[in-house]
Amino acid sequence: MESEDTICYCFHISKRKIQNYLRLHRLRRASQLSECGGAGTGCGWCVPYLKRYFEDSLAGTATTEGLSAADYARQRGEYIRAGKGKPAPGATPLPPAECGDPSTDASQSSRSDSP
Ligand code: FES
Repeated sequence: MESEDTICYCFHISKRKIQNYLRLHRLRRASQLSECGGAGTGCGWCVPYLKRYFEDSLAGTATTEGLSAADYARQRGEYIRAGKGKPAPGATPLPPAECGDPSTDASQSSRSDSP
């Protein structure tokens, strides 16, 4: 993940904005990052990442996620499609589901063509 990559897709907040907020404000709890544009208060996907950035700011370290921005967005899509969180209104749309994703598998649809 690069500085300009989005961390909170629900509220369109970049990694750079989170890190600047942490640098400029002396937060006592990771949950105070919600004051940065609502980060983490939508689907909840980004909360573990926000906590990590908060802990890094306390320790003076920098975590490398080991994820590309595309993988991060794809994993968030899987998280939401699995029913683990609901995107905030106005959130960035989910990337297309990959083949084999059970949440988009037509054979599992409850729709019936019979009356
Ligand atoms: S991606 Fe941050 S709350 Fe949904």
